[in-house]
Amino acid sequence: MTTLSQLHYLTAMGIQTWQSRQGSAAPPTELKENMAVLCATVAQCTACPLHKTRTQTVFGTGYQQADLMIIGEAPGFYEDQKGEPFVGRAGQLLNAMLEAIGLDRRRVYIANILKCRPPNNRDPLPEEVSQCSGFLTKQIAFVQPKLLLALGRIAANYLLNTQMPLGRMRGKLHSYGMQNIPLLVTYHPAYLLRNPKDKGKAWQDLQLAYRSIAPT
Ligand code: URA
Repeated sequence: MTTLSQLHYLTAMGIQTWQSRQGSAAPPTELKENMAVLCATVAQCTACPLHKTRTQTVFGTGYQQADLMIIGEAPGFYEDQKGEPFVGRAGQLLNAMLEAIGLDRRRVYIANILKCRPPNNRDPLPEEVSQCSGFLTKQIAFVQPKLLLALGRIAANYLLNTQMPLGRMRGKLHSYGMQNIPLLVTYHPAYLLRNPKDKGKAWQDLQLAYRSIAPT
């Protein structure tokens, strides 16, 4: 078993530490069914007031057996309209960032902490996160990714159960939950649209992510 610190050094040296599942067969029927049931449950959720203002829920998208699972914060205007995460301007930048490291969006799994859009794209409230995050926990357990990539401070703070600023979380491998899933943190693409000077640092983060999951 590779420990997290071994993993950190191996990935830093560019050495692959696990077999890629990309390109493997379609997800088993049970996984598809579990996801479909969870998706239907999310679609009917009225646990917090956000259900009153949503157009629709935004469950998650991508390859259900992905090596890389990307976690954002909450749907914005376009996501609420389309029912899919990261389809607005931030999503276009995310797609370009993934392409830059040779990953197609369809080969990763993308989900948010919140499944409904907060009005005016405000930050999620703690009570909304606590009502909604169980859905994400289940999605992570179903996908069993080899690596989680948290986009932005809010997603990273939630997943790592910390209040650290983003600058102190990025650039190193963390570990998520009881399953000890390796986790990296990078800038939210919406932040990068406003602060393009930090794109270089995001590029470094993505290269570290790529080295962690690249097939031989
Ligand atoms: N920002 C997020 O965090 N998630 C989305 O789906 C869109 C924008």
